[in-house]
Amino acid sequence: MIDQTTSTMTAGMAYPTVRMRRLRQSPALRTLVRETELTPGDLILPLFVRPGSREKRPISSMPGQFQWSVDTLVTEVREIAAFGIRSVLLFGIPSEKDSHGSENADPDGIVPTAIRAIKAAVPEMIVISDMCFCEYTDHGHCGIINQPGRAHYRPEMAEGYLLNDPTLDALGRASVVHAEAGADIIAPSGMLDGMVGAIRAALDRAGYELTPVMSYAVKFASGFYGPFRDAAESPPAFGDRSQYQMDPANGREAVREALLDLEEGADLLIVKPALPYLDVLREVRGQANVPIAAYQVSGEYAMLHAAAANGWLDLERCAMESLTSIKRAGADMILTYFAKDVVRWLNH
Ligand code: PBG
Repeated sequence: MIDQTTSTMTAGMAYPTVRMRRLRQSPALRTLVRETELTPGDLILPLFVRPGSREKRPISSMPGQFQWSVDTLVTEVREIAAFGIRSVLLFGIPSEKDSHGSENADPDGIVPTAIRAIKAAVPEMIVISDMCFCEYTDHGHCGIINQPGRAHYRPEMAEGYLLNDPTLDALGRASVVHAEAGADIIAPSGMLDGMVGAIRAALDRAGYELTPVMSYAVKFASGFYGPFRDAAESPPAFGDRSQYQMDPANGREAVREALLDLEEGADLLIVKPALPYLDVLREVRGQANVPIAAYQVSGEYAMLHAAAANGWLDLERCAMESLTSIKRAGADMILTYFAKDVVRWLNH
């Protein structure tokens, strides 16, 4: 598209023959030539679920977002379904954390319980399960950690290193549990090597060959996840996630990550965060021929709210502009905490 425009212009057609403002004269004309449109069908709303009942705990760094108990979550999902949101992504806050994050693979754990409740109440809602151990482990890392005296200890590897291959088995087991509970899509977010293949194989073995895997293929070690870690109560107890999440400086490596996940059988890919990585999103869109999602993360949401609360930015305008830009850059769908607001904004 960009090349064609350039060649027309170099062929001698310019001002005053060309006047770009002709097509900007009225709202109707602008609507007619608009290239990118957000629709409720593009949006996936992330939701946090915790133990208990009648809970709706505000997340202070994410205004308008809550930790729900299963009962209030179901009410919320009914409400968002009624006004046009078709998919949700679930994060669980377990009642107990341990070194292996066992609750993630417990059929009576918080997320499988929430999935069953949502699917019973609103069967058509697409329920995506975020498949990672960081919310469930006492150390806050995304899998099994190398520690003397613990299972899978490898003396030749650093203490505290996230053990890749033992974690893959655990991811496979937990994914089957979530699929059994009724998850429509499994979304591994731990950035482990081989996670997509391991989950695909485990699902297939268990008879869930039709359950898609939506891989967080390109997930950067980002400061923009800050508020999420309050929300999910999952900050790492030591170190950070740079051993497994990507260096924000790397774009070529992102394409490689995306293509590897496709080879392992990913059905959809996620690029995350969104706004600071639009170039990566565009590049991945160009090279990977599957649906691509972008995740507008907690920090992107919090920044807009903070600025708006100070009267420095108009929330609706800037949120819509960010989301439109994310779509324009190549996202087929967007995971966003603004999903409910967007539907409201689109309707007025
Ligand atoms: C890990 C996970 C994280 C997010 C989604 N899944 C946190 C992390 O990797 O530290 C971040 C989402 C957000 O910031 O909105 N299970």
